[in-house]
Amino acid sequence: MSIRRLPGHLVNRIAAGEVVERPASAVKELVENALDAGALRIVVRLAGGGRDGIEVIDDGCGLGPDEMPVALERHATSKLPGDEIDAVETLGFRGEALPSIASVARLTLSSRTGEGDGWSLVVDNGVAEPVRPSAMPPGTSVRVEALFERVPARRKFLRSPRSEYAACLDVVRRLAMARADVGFTLIHDGRTSLSVPPGDDRPTRVAALTDPQLRPNSVVVEAERDGVRLAGIAGLPTFNRGIADHQYLFVNGRPVKDRLLVGAVRGAYADLIPRDRHAVVALFLEVPASEVDVNVHPAKTEVRFRDPAVVRGLIVGGLKRALEAEAKRSAQPVAASSAALWTAEPGFTPAPLPAIERAEFQPAVWDARHAFTAAPSARAEPAALPPPDAEAAERFPLGVARGQVGATYIVAEAADGLILVDQHAAHERLVLERMRAARTGGSIASQALLLPEVVDLDEAGCDRLEQRADELGRLGLSIERFGATAMLVRAVPALLGTADVAGLVRDLADELAAFDHATALGDRLDHVAATMACHGSVRAGRVLSVAEMNALLRDMEVTPNSGQCNHGRPTWIKLANADIEKLFGRR
Ligand SMILES: Nc1ncnc2c1ncn2[C@@H]1O[C@H](COP(=O)(O)OP(=O)(O)O)[C@@H](O)[C@H]1O
Ligand SMILES: [Mg+2]
Repeated sequence: MSIRRLPGHLVNRIAAGEVVERPASAVKELVENALDAGALRIVVRLAGGGRDGIEVIDDGCGLGPDEMPVALERHATSKLPGDEIDAVETLGFRGEALPSIASVARLTLSSRTGEGDGWSLVVDNGVAEPVRPSAMPPGTSVRVEALFERVPARRKFLRSPRSEYAACLDVVRRLAMARADVGFTLIHDGRTSLSVPPGDDRPTRVAALTDPQLRPNSVVVEAERDGVRLAGIAGLPTFNRGIADHQYLFVNGRPVKDRLLVGAVRGAYADLIPRDRHAVVALFLEVPASEVDVNVHPAKTEVRFRDPAVVRGLIVGGLKRALEAEAKRSAQPVAASSAALWTAEPGFTPAPLPAIERAEFQPAVWDARHAFTAAPSARAEPAALPPPDAEAAERFPLGVARGQVGATYIVAEAADGLILVDQHAAHERLVLERMRAARTGGSIASQALLLPEVVDLDEAGCDRLEQRADELGRLGLSIERFGATAMLVRAVPALLGTADVAGLVRDLADELAAFDHATALGDRLDHVAATMACHGSVRAGRVLSVAEMNALLRDMEVTPNSGQCNHGRPTWIKLANADIEKLFGRR
């Protein structure tokens, strides 16, 4: 066996495996190049999700005819004038992207500097043609066609045009968010799907690229520690979503998907949102170049911090402070705990409860877990029923309803203690169990809307819902495509009522993204049913009559799994009579 040096075109093709694994990675490299070239406006044009063609056009500094062939050589870059890899401020610096893409596709580089004429250079799967004159405005355009056509093994791994498009959109959206000063346009199969002007301020840009509703539902984050700066926008805990895709994180202007950062965001919201929900954030970290290594990942989406603890602390602390400032008006802090007296259904660990100490036992204490915005309110009705006797206690362990607190909790009297029920959590569980039962028993009753409702969504979300319309139909949701970025809802599962159709549809789109493939149909439907159940539930904050409260208690007693909500929290807790006596010093 003899050792040989691999020829350049093979080296490039191997490197291409790291740099371009799918159209979205090519789009990322090309848009980054346009940003590095100082472009003010960038247009990305895709055909068939990028599988059939990609073009990125910018109005940046351009390249001269003698520089163009060099740009396509491996490890050729204009971005490292010295040897200081640690101090790079551009997005690129490895000089790998263009030659890698050109080794697995037909790449046309056309460029014109401010002073010169336009020139064009074609490289077809690593083989360069001569540079030719080409009429064009100043700037650069890179066209990529026949991607992986000569590398069938890779072509085979590409997903549907729809999935590839979704990945490209995600890349463009993140880069557009990183650079509010630059205008971006994304055109897919001839249709403009994203367009933002140059010179936006950051909150405007973030809202334009995520959800206009984020603005009124977010707080501004600003914090600094040990030379590291954090700025951005954080959604209120109640503005949570079903998947983490709505978290946008940037380090020194570079979009990253870094586990440390994601974990820090999760930590900051940990006590504020249910475990299976995700905050919406756009966070921008500025870290001195000496404190961060962006060179650890070929696609540069992960970074390594010299002192991860500082970064984590800054994010958790900065987010918490911003959110607390907002929440102060509605929630009150509570003191340390004697909550052990409250018992939940056997077999599960209740979430930490607010402290209940004699001196502090006042309605406001009850706020702490749910932080509702209304002033605490309570209602008591004359006892319609005597407390349950021994026989009834066995059949009706949740007792009789006595009233409601804060329009959120039902207070009931059981034979052996005081019961508090979280009405929303409890009802949500009941609806889910009913949907499950209906599903195994056949179809689910559907209720037609008087007027079909149009729900605006992003295109990828619509695609996912459209693809699953049949399955959703079996769950009682009749939904169809309504143009590129909207869905039309004709009927909803009768169990859910018609209150928040738009919210339901948005959450389902998220849910389907999280369970895109490989999840068994049954599991997926279960998640979808859970999402639906959440929407169909009696919301916290709704005043219930005593009859409704009793009906809910009876339902809970005969429904499996009713002791915990779909998110794993308890639906009810109990304070035993003996413990009440202890609280009052009678024992
Ligand atoms: N859109 C563009 N406008 C101007 N110059 C560009 C553009 N794209 C690439 N170049 C030039 O080609 C070189 C090689 O690009 P690339 O292979 O992406 O490597 P890198 O970005 O790491 O330098 C860049 O350093 C730059 O000089
Ligand atoms: Mg580059």
